[in-house]
Amino acid sequence: MEPLITMKNVSKVYETKAGPIHALRGVDLTVNEGEFVAIVGPSGSGKSTLINVITGIDTPTDGEIVVGGQRLNDMNQDDIATWRSKNVGVVFQFFQLLPTLTVHDNVIVPMQYANTHRGERGERALAMLRLVGAEHVADQYPAQISGGDRQRAAIARALVNDPVALVGDEPTGNLDPESAEKIIQLFEELVDAGKTIVLVTHDRALAGRLPRVEEVRGGSLVAEEDIDERLLVR
Ligand SMILES: Nc1ncnc2c1ncn2[C@@H]1O[C@H](COP(=O)(O)OP(=O)(O)OP(=O)(O)O)[C@@H](O)[C@H]1O
Ligand SMILES: [Mg+2]
Repeated sequence: MEPLITMKNVSKVYETKAGPIHALRGVDLTVNEGEFVAIVGPSGSGKSTLINVITGIDTPTDGEIVVGGQRLNDMNQDDIATWRSKNVGVVFQFFQLLPTLTVHDNVIVPMQYANTHRGERGERALAMLRLVGAEHVADQYPAQISGGDRQRAAIARALVNDPVALVGDEPTGNLDPESAEKIIQLFEELVDAGKTIVLVTHDRALAGRLPRVEEVRGGSLVAEEDIDERLLVR
């Protein structure tokens, strides 16, 4: 298996009025093609920061990040945005749907960056919404729909360009157990078909069923033998 995501000695320091906050401290992480990895850890431990730096949404203070052969450190924000739209689907912790666009149009946006043929965009967006069970809210605006439907819409948007990797920050956190199960099964099918998925979760049952779990504690990754088993149900 080839490494798809490599983090070498990555640190992230947020400078605040109250002083520096060390959100990540020298993180080394390799995720191979086709892996399905859960990231667990307490609130404030650095999980979202880790997701944000591997997707190029945030830049590390120190260290190197290579994703799919691209060294993100060398790229500017525009290039990273274009690269991300084609290669990495992201489901954000708070969805980040565009409020002025319908759900259908939100799912179309990434295809505009990827130069998908105009005539294909509408149907493909609908097909993705159907796949995640959000077809019924296609013509509504994000503010009009439930948290669960926003989450489904965000997942459809993340998958619509058929990225090699899907990175999610609590992508099932707002779904009822039955809907969450459907989405996890979809993710498992995607992994079986060759995709790589990294997701942050507080769901102990979900973490416990994934083949690989990494725990972030105080900005560092915990060694496998030290992972807090209370964070998972096996
Ligand atoms: N933009 C920012 N500016 C300043 N501090 C930040 C910023 N983003 C995150 N932090 C701080 O960095 C640390 C790690 O935050 P992060 O959001 O990565 O945690 P998390 O593990 O995702 O938490 P949660 O489970 O609550 O989502 C926290 O102390 C947080 O307050
Ligand atoms: Mg977070």
